[in-house]
Amino acid sequence: MNISFQLQDAATFATPLLAVFAVDIATGPAEQPSPALLSTSDAPAAVASPWLTSGEFKAALGETLLLHAPHGIKAERLLVIGVGKLSALSIHQLRKGAGVAVRTAKARALTGLAIAFPDDMALADEHMDALPGELTARAITEGTILADFEVDTYRSDRKDSPLTAVTILYNDPERSTQAHLQQGFHEGRILAESQNFARSLVNEPGNILTPTELGRRAAAMAAETGLACEVHSTDKLKELGMGAFLAVTQGSPEPPALIVLRYEPENAPVSPSEEAAPVLALVGKGITFDTGGISIKPADSMEKMKYDMAGSAAMLGAMRAIALLKPTIRVLCVVCSAENMPDGRAYKPGDVVTAMSGKTIEIINTDAEGRLVLADGLHYARTLGATHLIDAATLTGAIGVALGLLNAGLFSNDDETTQRFLDALPTTGEQFWRMPCTDDYRDQIKSPIADIRNTGATRYGGAITAAMFLKEFVGEAPNLPAAKWIHLDIAGTAWSDEPQPWISRGPTGTAVRSITDWARSYAN
Ligand code: BES
Ligand code: ZN
Ligand code: ZN
Repeated sequence: MNISFQLQDAATFATPLLAVFAVDIATGPAEQPSPALLSTSDAPAAVASPWLTSGEFKAALGETLLLHAPHGIKAERLLVIGVGKLSALSIHQLRKGAGVAVRTAKARALTGLAIAFPDDMALADEHMDALPGELTARAITEGTILADFEVDTYRSDRKDSPLTAVTILYNDPERSTQAHLQQGFHEGRILAESQNFARSLVNEPGNILTPTELGRRAAAMAAETGLACEVHSTDKLKELGMGAFLAVTQGSPEPPALIVLRYEPENAPVSPSEEAAPVLALVGKGITFDTGGISIKPADSMEKMKYDMAGSAAMLGAMRAIALLKPTIRVLCVVCSAENMPDGRAYKPGDVVTAMSGKTIEIINTDAEGRLVLADGLHYARTLGATHLIDAATLTGAIGVALGLLNAGLFSNDDETTQRFLDALPTTGEQFWRMPCTDDYRDQIKSPIADIRNTGATRYGGAITAAMFLKEFVGEAPNLPAAKWIHLDIAGTAWSDEPQPWISRGPTGTAVRSITDWARSYAN
């Protein structure tokens, strides 16, 4: 899909389908819906007028109205897309609205689509704060590209998308605005393509995307975007003493992959204070298939455990975006990839393993493998010089029990680091909820025979005890100062069984854009 941004009146653009957003401007809760178009072009409003005034179209989010041969408009069809109440209008509704435009065009096998930029400032006037031009351009571009992703890679009847050209039309000739919109468009494209890259990795089945193959795909991405990349396997894990990561890999004939990416900005970052300039590390759980190992999972839905590498996909997607957006901040990425299998050589409940940091771990459940690979990944990132760590992992089923499937869990040992991440969310529209991770939970992971155990003593607060386990590997250690750290448990949000009018079912690519914006917040 070729997407472009063009200065032109929407009514004069020849296209199979012109999409225009509509809002409901009714204010009181008891008031009838009162839809109005968000476009400076008069012709679309004139064409849609009978449907808008009759009450047949209410401009609810995702609601559409398709009209053929619209009078006074060059397009063959006019698509009016509801984005909900004006009083609740934000760039997130417009991101979804753009997605609805793309999926409507694809469902009808149309080859081209134009989207009218929502530039009716007369209507949006009082909501200008929520709708700055650059972020609106970014959101619409993101919505367009995210909506183009499909999961049917291995279907024989799969067809290439007929929709080859999407043009976003804006009508404001002011040069200053134009530069802002172009910047939003540029960023939105990089971010959404990076998110789709992550989604394509998560969509791959476990027999194709083995740890070795994940390493190959990361290396190919790195070569394309100018990142330094190393992919290591068992020998390196042994050399580094990664006993926790190695234990998880033992039961599989597939060799593990320890993937390290490095982004070095052209202008060295300058520290604002006496402290050394920050070095960020993105650490991802990359279990390409999680059977549970000897503590085997039930067969029901086990096929979904191919998405147990979504944390590493999020990190690779974010590294791609960072490489292309070029912020002035050093960023490392460490992906710990393995397959968790039962086997005669597999690690067992009761085993005691020694992590790279020297801590000993009593294995209680081999299905709690993600925290083991991350323990060594987090520690290793610190030995590479990271001062700030962020990890993403489909770590626990318990996070879905705690938060449902809308919010992912965020755990951290530092308020300022957390705030930077939360500050990115109004732009990205992703939902993360901070969960407790205080030391009074530490009793849960005590072991009588080793330093810690790999599951909580009770089933309560399972996502928290998993985070507490990770916290053991980010604190002060011999020759290493404590790192500032965020853990994202995305088990509930990385996969969606339900399609939406603006996005396909399947891998969501969650966290790619928020992690990228978090990293960019450290740039000078
Ligand atoms: N990969 C799973 C977590 C998961 C569950 C991801 C559901 C996506 C959907 C993880 O490795 C796991 O199995 N965790 C266990 C931990 C338990 C043994 C303490 C869990 O959540 O049951
Ligand atoms: Zn598991
Ligand atoms: Zn897992």
